[in-house]
This record gives sequence, structure tokens and C-alpha cells, in this order.
Amino acid sequence: MEILPEIKKRKSPLVFDGREVETEKVKAVIEAARWSPSCYNNQPWNFVFVGKNDRNRFALEESLSLGNSWAKKAPYLVAVGADPSKDCDANKIPYYAYDTGLSVMSAAIEAEHHGLRVHQMAGWKEEKVKRAVGFPKGFRLLVVFALGYEGSVKTLWDKLEQKVKDRLAQPRTRKPAKENFFFGEFKGNK
Ligand SMILES: Cc1cc2nc3c(=O)[nH]c(=O)nc-3n(C[C@H](O)[C@H](O)[C@H](O)COP(=O)(O)O)c2cc1C
Repeated sequence: MEILPEIKKRKSPLVFDGREVETEKVKAVIEAARWSPSCYNNQPWNFVFVGKNDRNRFALEESLSLGNSWAKKAPYLVAVGADPSKDCDANKIPYYAYDTGLSVMSAAIEAEHHGLRVHQMAGWKEEKVKRAVGFPKGFRLLVVFALGYEGSVKTLWDKLEQKVKDRLAQPRTRKPAKENFFFGEFKGNK
């Protein structure tokens, strides 16, 4: 079935090229995230883009879990957080996190449109990341993502860690649509 090419080809790469990302492309990614929908138009997201030469880059890299070492190659590591105390008040649902996720997805699709890739991560030490990027105490860190051009797996194969090679050997999969998409009423497992 045909879907938007940016959605179809989007993937989370494990190999980034060190090549710098053009400022205009970074601005486009920011603009896409900025125009995301949010509960009461609260726009709770905060993105901190940390480039290779930023003084806090090392501290941010050190906050990532070992399994995410591949991300250190990316030209940008982006910490995304929000203030739960300024959330929109509805249904006792943490919409600040929901909204921020929407903005990251918009960023990822825009990145894809410009030939870039985003790989989101939940593997990090929250306090370390917050300290590295200067998020206030009350913020929650929601995700860190790597942004850049995907590297050539073929060219870099010999330099890749075995763990990365093993992951690359696995196919990308999804559950069949009938497991979580329904018409009329929920027909999934109760
Ligand atoms: C919130 C979130 C957290 C994730 N955390 C990690 C992570 O810590 N390390 C990692 O390698 N991938 C992480 N991923 C990437 C997922 O593993 C990936 O999106 C999933 O396997 C589907 O693959 P695809 O993005 O290529 O379609 C995360 C993705 C999301 C959305």
C-alpha cells in the first residue's frame, strides 16, 4: 500500500555519518517540531541540540547507556524535555509527554524529507542529561535523539561493534494491523 515516502523509508539508523548537517536543514527540523499539535496548544516541548563541538557534548555522550554508544557518531544529540507542572489539565493524562512525542515525530519526518535520520533513545541517565544540557530540576527528560546523515553500513562494517552488527542483521518488523487497529469496536485481547 502506498504511504508517504518519508514515513515509509523512515528508520532508526545505528550508523551515522560524521558529515555536518546544514544549518537550514536543522532549522527545518525545528520548524516542523514547532508546528506540532498539542493539548490546549501548550507546546510543552524543549529541544536542546548539542553539536560535536559543544562544550557539553562529552557529558551528554557519557549520560547515554552503553547500548547507545553508536549515537556518539551523530553530528547532533538532541535532548528533549518538558515541565510536567505546566501541563494541560485534562483526564489526568500526562499530555506534556504525549505532545512532546508528537513534536519529535514531526521532527523525524521532516528530517527524513531532507535526507537526514533521527534515532530516538530512552537509554540514558536522566539527571546526567539534565545537568549536561541545563534543564531545570522540575523538568522530565523524555527522549534523547541522534540526528544526522546515515552512514554506509558497508563501508564502516569492519569498524562496527559486534552488538551493532547483530542488531543490523535483524529485520525491522511490525505487528499485523489487525492486532491493534479496529473498525467499529475494539476486538483485541482484553
Ligand atoms: C521512545 C523511544 C525510545 C527508544 N529508545 C531506544 C534506545 O535507547 N536505543 C535504541 O537503540 N533504540 C531506541 N529506540 C528505537 C526503537 O528501537 C525503534 O524505533 C524501533 O525498534 C522501531 O524501529 P524503526 O524506528 O527503525 O522503525 C527508541 C524509540 C523510541 C520511540
